[in-house]
Amino acid sequence: MSISLFSKDFISLSVASELPKGYTLRPLQKSDHAEFLSVLTVLTKVGDISFETWSARYDWMAARNDEYFIIVIEDDQKKVVAMGSLIIEKKFIRNCAAVGHIEDVAVAADQQGKKLGLRIIQALDAIAQQVGCYKSILDCSEKNQGFYEKCGFKLAGVQMAHYY
Ligand code: ACO
Repeated sequence: MSISLFSKDFISLSVASELPKGYTLRPLQKSDHAEFLSVLTVLTKVGDISFETWSARYDWMAARNDEYFIIVIEDDQKKVVAMGSLIIEKKFIRNCAAVGHIEDVAVAADQQGKKLGLRIIQALDAIAQQVGCYKSILDCSEKNQGFYEKCGFKLAGVQMAHYY
């Protein structure tokens, strides 16, 4: 049996209960390598990542499993069809507060429109609250603004980037 990136106890049972029949919500596992990377291509370029390279990055994250929370949804055939990441940033401001950063949310093209994206966000929000974040933030393209508004997010600032 594959070991999870972080404890299953962080997965919200109430969010999981809203999934379509036979679908499950769980932490990322090392054995998800190929299916996970394949779904992520709906988001951006992923690259040709060998199992060894994946494994090294997975182990690095697993050693920081109070900071890196990557979740997936499996369909009724046990295939990974959706995912999202929450990274916890510890700060000095606001009495040493913590902020959640939501990243790399993706739903397989043939599974979009079934509220899987919404469930991923709700589950990441629940983790952020459990670990004491006072807010979660994310960057997205304008075409996804409506999706995040449906998930309860509000426009708050402007995204800026330096590419290296
Ligand atoms: N614009 C406006 N509303 C939308 C959009 C959109 N682009 N996408 C979904 N919605 C609405 C749905 O209609 C639904 O509304 P309803 O409750 O009134 O029925 C609600 O948002 C929830 O939609 P879901 O079914 O949960 O959306 P889905 O599972 O298709 O996931 C997602 C949405 C993640 C954007 C998916 O389309 C996807 O993977 N796109 C490609 C990758 C991508 O752009 N990911 C987001 C990157 S930003 C980031 O990672 C921080």
